[in-house]
Amino acid sequence: MTAVTELRGVSRRYLRGDEVVHALRGVSFTLSAGEMVAVVGPSGCGKSTTLNLIAGVDRPDEGEVIVCGTDLARAGEAELVTARRRHVGIVFQSFHLMPHLTVEENVALPLALGGRRDAVRVLDLLRRVGLEGRRGHFPAELSGGEQQRTAVARALVHRPAVVLADEPTGSLDSASGTAVLRLMDELRRQEGSALLLATHDETIAAAADRVVRMCDGEIVAVL
Ligand SMILES: Nc1ncnc2c1ncn2[C@@H]1O[C@H](COP(=O)(O)OP(=O)(O)O)[C@@H](O)[C@H]1O
Ligand SMILES: [Mg+2]
Repeated sequence: MTAVTELRGVSRRYLRGDEVVHALRGVSFTLSAGEMVAVVGPSGCGKSTTLNLIAGVDRPDEGEVIVCGTDLARAGEAELVTARRRHVGIVFQSFHLMPHLTVEENVALPLALGGRRDAVRVLDLLRRVGLEGRRGHFPAELSGGEQQRTAVARALVHRPAVVLADEPTGSLDSASGTAVLRLMDELRRQEGSALLLATHDETIAAAADRVVRMCDGEIVAVL
């Protein structure tokens, strides 16, 4: 299996006042092409820190974070941004849609940032997440579930090798949460993207190929 993400001995410390918080302590693991892995563990165990490092929005203090061949720990800023835009799609707990852009424009954004346009691809994804009829609407006019389905389409539109989802159902009622999860799973299978999903909900983890269990900044089990 091709590794699309590899973490080797990754540590990340934060300062909280004059206290050092060890968010990650020597984490190593491999995400292979096309697989779905759930990262589980209690609040504060380091799930978001792990995803943020792979997303290239944070850097480790030690170790390597290799995403599709680029070590984000050592990459220059331009190389980091290019790697993120090309290889990574992100779904956040609180959707993070651009409020002044329509559904269709939000989904097209990752392509636009890469200097590309592909209206056919955008429309295809909108159809597959069931939002074709809402494409001219603004995020504020959508339900939470519809906003997250928009975010799922946006995360996949540029065919990233890695999709990161940080508590993607955390702001949704259970019915729309289940629908969003099913959709993410279906789309990543069709698209062949790997999905790394952080959650403290053990039932969500049941859908994954593997479960990485974290505690106090360390991986304590891989099941
Ligand atoms: N920017 C930051 N500044 C200070 N501490 C942080 C920061 N980000 C995360 N932490 C701390 O690092 C630890 C891991 O956080 P996080 O990765 O967000 O955990 P999780 O997503 O599993 O809830 C926690 O103790 C958290 O308070
Ligand atoms: Mg978190």
